[in-house]
Amino acid sequence: MDRKDFLSLLGTSAATLSIFSLIESCSKTGASPAGNVDFNLDVSLSQNAVLLSNGGYLISNNVIIINIAGAYTALSSICTHEGCSVDYNNGAGNLQCPCHGAEFTTSGAVLKGPAQRSLKQYQVDKSGNILHIYG
Ligand code: FES
Repeated sequence: MDRKDFLSLLGTSAATLSIFSLIESCSKTGASPAGNVDFNLDVSLSQNAVLLSNGGYLISNNVIIINIAGAYTALSSICTHEGCSVDYNNGAGNLQCPCHGAEFTTSGAVLKGPAQRSLKQYQVDKSGNILHIYG
């Protein structure tokens, strides 16, 4: 292989790589759906104590658990747009994605795009200090 053939091959490889990268990025039309979960959180433990306060939230097992006026809500924390982790905004009373600005209600419905699909909602049962999150 002479120099000209080598450079030609290199150019073809780079172009092929670029095309595959483009196809890969174009195929990202949404994050993978959240799966089922089944776990407990003990709110008496210091790492979970934030859940004792109104508006307090934490993320565990890709689930965001929120205390809203003493009632617990659990949703997938994985934004349905491209998979960033959402946060709870207590002032606005909604969930917000820091990556591209999507917003969701506390039941998971889309308030603002670019996300188009709702966040999966999970069940929360409370028994004493134990929250059982499942679904
Ligand atoms: Fe959430 Fe894009 S990943 S808005």
